[in-house]
Amino acid sequence: MTTSSKSNLVPRHIAIIMDGNGRWAEQRNRPRLFGHKAGVDSVREIVEACRELGVEYLTLYAFSTENWNRPQSEVSGLMLLLKTYLIGELKNMLSNDIRLRCLGQQERLPREVREVLQQTVESTASCQTMNLNLALSYGGRMELIHAIRQLAGKCVDGDLLPEEINEQVLSDHLYTAGQVDPDLVIRTGGECRLSNFLLWQASYAELYFTDLKWPEFKKEQLLEAIDVFNQRQRRFGKTGAQLDLGNQK
Ligand code: FPP
Repeated sequence: MTTSSKSNLVPRHIAIIMDGNGRWAEQRNRPRLFGHKAGVDSVREIVEACRELGVEYLTLYAFSTENWNRPQSEVSGLMLLLKTYLIGELKNMLSNDIRLRCLGQQERLPREVREVLQQTVESTASCQTMNLNLALSYGGRMELIHAIRQLAGKCVDGDLLPEEINEQVLSDHLYTAGQVDPDLVIRTGGECRLSNFLLWQASYAELYFTDLKWPEFKKEQLLEAIDVFNQRQRRFGKTGAQLDLGNQK
């Protein structure tokens, strides 16, 4: 974690399940896609806020492996929104030194989205101030299977011994290889579950749930989530007394 100007701890990695777009729209008697469009405004504001605060990694759950089961019209609407977002934000990402990466099964995305995504990933590859991960066609269990298959293949080829597999080796084969684990996972929309998001990486993350729908989640609400995060004590299996002793050093 890094320290903000208010000497509060800013999580190094924030991961967000952006839920509630559909219900937000339905409450306004508008189509679900209207909610997703409003959700993109929140994405822009939260990316900017995290960049200002000094968050190093921001991971947004934009489309899960299960989301392919939604009506075709909603899936194509979301894909179009993604493509438009990526095209519209490239300049901004470059001027703000933001590196974009994709977590998930890119091969399942429509070709035109995949191409724009790859171009954005390549164009921003040398940016260093903030890392923005878009989880697209992402599922935590699928990610683990993908990693385990790679490890099994290396064992079969004689490049890896089963006893050499440890937490670090497995982490190095996930989509998030080389990144720090999330300190804080936020979920909007009132549900209190992880829904197959970063199952391995979020093992020690603080979880923050809010009833607010994603289009209602802006900078002020992010700061509130970080405040709550700061009020919690992360013990990583140690006792509170052990941590207090460590802090006195
Ligand atoms: C969940 O809300 C949200 C999604 C499945 C999509 C999230 C996508 C965006 C915010 C816009 C595109 C993203 C980027 C990064 C440009 P829901 O539809 O499940 O809401 P509900 O539970 O109220 O139905």
